[in-house]
Amino acid sequence: MNILVTGGLGYLGSHAVVELIKQKYKVFVIDNLSNSHIQNLSYLEKITGQKIEFLNADIRDKKKLDKIFKDNDISGIMHFAGLKSVKKSDSERGEYYDVNVNGTKNLIDVLNNTKKEKKYFIFSSSACVYGKPNYLPYDENHNVEPENFYGETKLEAEILLKNTYLTHEDWKIIVLRYFNPIGAHHSFLIGDSPRGKPENLMPNILSAVYPEKNKLKIFGSNHDTFDGTPVRDFIHVEDLIKGHVLALNFLRKSTKHVYEVFNLGTGEGFSVLQLIKSFEEVNGVKVSFEFSKKRKGDLPIYFSSAKKITKMLGWKPKLNLKDMCKSSWEFYKNKK
Ligand code: NAD
Ligand code: UD1
Repeated sequence: MNILVTGGLGYLGSHAVVELIKQKYKVFVIDNLSNSHIQNLSYLEKITGQKIEFLNADIRDKKKLDKIFKDNDISGIMHFAGLKSVKKSDSERGEYYDVNVNGTKNLIDVLNNTKKEKKYFIFSSSACVYGKPNYLPYDENHNVEPENFYGETKLEAEILLKNTYLTHEDWKIIVLRYFNPIGAHHSFLIGDSPRGKPENLMPNILSAVYPEKNKLKIFGSNHDTFDGTPVRDFIHVEDLIKGHVLALNFLRKSTKHVYEVFNLGTGEGFSVLQLIKSFEEVNGVKVSFEFSKKRKGDLPIYFSSAKKITKMLGWKPKLNLKDMCKSSWEFYKNKK
């Protein structure tokens, strides 16, 4: 079966390309390289041992999308392309809406216009659609009330997909709400390597490993948690991507049209300080850090219930916090 991976040269999408090829899917990749590097293409070819079909295209360019679907027999989309900075989503609302919402709508329209009997769609959503927790762990029935514009765009894309399901018998859709993916592929060739200054925690830890001159800024020391630093549900990127392929295989097996939402988190929370400590221990290094003021909008604590995805898809995380820290560091050293 032919699958289009949008954002397939980015952090999560590149891992999906590897796993889909391993599972014998025929993969087409599009990416506009706004937050990734073209070298990832050769790393993907090295890991998979095959040529990757890649097109530098923007998901907002409907003409190009039409052509890709006309030229290739694509039945499904794994949709990773998107803008993910919570901070920038506020100051660049137009761009975030255009990419995350209109871009998703284009992809739905283009797949819908094909004559494919069944249409498959897996969407990268985020735990931030839930907003402030009424209870923890968040399960998929928790009400959704995003606290930031990035979360609003993800929720709006989810609604577009739900409406597509409600009005079309031939669509099979899974929305995956990610918690905090970290770690890198075991080849250490691909990992989280954004353009510009990273905002997420792990890339900032990596660039603060002694003797690097940078210091990690820990945003707040007096959050309402056991050690004062925020608690997150870190999930290894390889486990996260296995969840996608299980989701796709589930859709292919089901006889009815489907719309399901699953959390993708381990169900276990660790604090920022615990992550740093584990990173230092497993890699035998020191991370320089200092406390700074709280980051606007950061929740003190959230983690996932993974019950639904375990029950329905048989997904279970296999890699632990140490594996996440080890692979992140090996990838970083390899890239330098
Ligand atoms: P990433 O930035 O590494 O990957 C996204 C890729 O999409 C990049 O390669 C970028 O160049 C590409 N892209 C961006 N805009 C595009 C456009 N208009 N047209 C074509 N390509 C475009 O991010 P990631 O961490 O791999 O995240 C993948 C998806 O998962 C995103 O949609 C993100 O919102 C979502 N997500 C990520 C996290 C996380 O912590 N990494 C958590 C929750 C949800
Ligand atoms: C946020 C979003 C999440 C989104 C993700 C993608 C919310 C509630 N969560 O996750 O949905 O998918 O961004 O970008 O909006 N930290 C530091 N110093 C740093 C960087 C981070 O102390 O330099 C701390 C943060 O305060 C946070 C934790 O590390 O508590 C994790 O931060 P980050 O990696 O940015 O992810 P989230 O904010 O949890």
